[in-house]
Amino acid sequence: MKLSTNQSQRPVTTAISQNGNLMIGGCDTVELAKKYSTPLYVLDEATIRSTIADYKSAFSSYPDTNIMYASKALCTKAVATLLDSEGLGFDTVSAGEFYTFYKSGVNMAKVLFNGNNKTAEELELALDLGVGRISVDNFYELSLLNTIAEHKGRVADILLRVTPGIECHTHEYIQTGHLDSKFGFDLTQIDSAIELILQKYNHLKIHGLHAHIGSQIFETSIYPDEIEILCFEISRIAKKFGLRLNEINMGGGFGVKYVDTDVPPSIYEIGKLVTDKLKQCIEKYNIPPPTLFLEPGRSIISPAGVTLYTIGSSKQVPHGRKFVSVDGGMADNPRPSLYHAQYSAQIANKKSSSKTETITICGRYCESGDVLIKEIELPKTEAGDILCVYNTGAYNYSMASNYNRVPRPAMVLVKDGHSDLIIKRETWEDLIKNDIVP
Ligand code: LLP
Repeated sequence: MKLSTNQSQRPVTTAISQNGNLMIGGCDTVELAKKYSTPLYVLDEATIRSTIADYKSAFSSYPDTNIMYASKALCTKAVATLLDSEGLGFDTVSAGEFYTFYKSGVNMAKVLFNGNNKTAEELELALDLGVGRISVDNFYELSLLNTIAEHKGRVADILLRVTPGIECHTHEYIQTGHLDSKFGFDLTQIDSAIELILQKYNHLKIHGLHAHIGSQIFETSIYPDEIEILCFEISRIAKKFGLRLNEINMGGGFGVKYVDTDVPPSIYEIGKLVTDKLKQCIEKYNIPPPTLFLEPGRSIISPAGVTLYTIGSSKQVPHGRKFVSVDGGMADNPRPSLYHAQYSAQIANKKSSSKTETITICGRYCESGDVLIKEIELPKTEAGDILCVYNTGAYNYSMASNYNRVPRPAMVLVKDGHSDLIIKRETWEDLIKNDIVP
């Protein structure tokens, strides 16, 4: 099966310069670190575009497929503009996310608003800004949204978020499709929800079903299972209620390769399994071909991103391990401490053939758990070396904090030897700007 970018640990443009430095997007990463300071998030445009090309080609046998980038992975105006230029739609889970797309000039009809406890204020803003679909998660929200739409004299276009009851093997915090989940209607609750929409909530128009099983998934069989369940439900609803649903949103969750031992499936394999299954189900259940929506987040943006750090102090524990500290850590990348996530890295200014040592890379934050990489073999490190951690495009900046009152890093977009600042580095002044002394 053809390889796709989610199966590669590094950006597609990764290279070594003549002087032995690590290059990304045609830019020398050591020079980037000098110019913009560290920690620095670097995003490679070519990798993002190549991933999207993989998705488009992998699902091309079912032309009515739409990719809705799950913006929780990384949501900034530059990312919105770039992905919009590729024709993607956007999955959002807060007003802050869909406001970013609005301010980036995205056609809001291509935006979906999703989440298990949207506030009334957020739902109002979604209707005011013309968000295309709202994926309603529960009975409380059906009623709330109907009331808000009624007050505005509007009809809200919705999907029903359902829990298909499929378990996947990933970290339990990022599983969502199993039955005992906080997200979505249980399959046994769908009929009551549809009855309410058809009989009582006149300000809601339902277009389809939405599900999401989990994140960083390596199994492939769960996707056709999910398609089967959603198609079966659509045909059942058509028969029972005479209601035609035209949209199936299968969520995201496609895995990426953080370390050598990760073996995520090719997007081409998933595309073939899903589109074959969908075509089969259309015949089997005799349903009109629905529009298919995918919501990949991590797999679109993670491999394109790296983080550059400067190495500072180190400590050799007598008869123990050697800790090497960098100038960032759990506040710019909370994933190792939250999910025991693993990462691979390289010294940007040293040839990998140099004499190596096994070290623990820890962050600068006041917590023993602030370890970025537990054990890695790298060329012998010195203070001032630049460390490049791979696959940090997703859920790093978006989950970053100001823990220990440290400003969040800058982000640059690199392409063909050129770099653009897309997120400014925070200043100490930024940190206190909302403080009020009564
Ligand atoms: N659609 C829905 C409804 C979701 O809840 C999610 C992720 C996605 C799509 C995108 O999933 P992806 O393709 O990115 O795997 N913070 C965690 C990941 C949480 C994912 C939550 N939902 C992490 O750092 O691993």
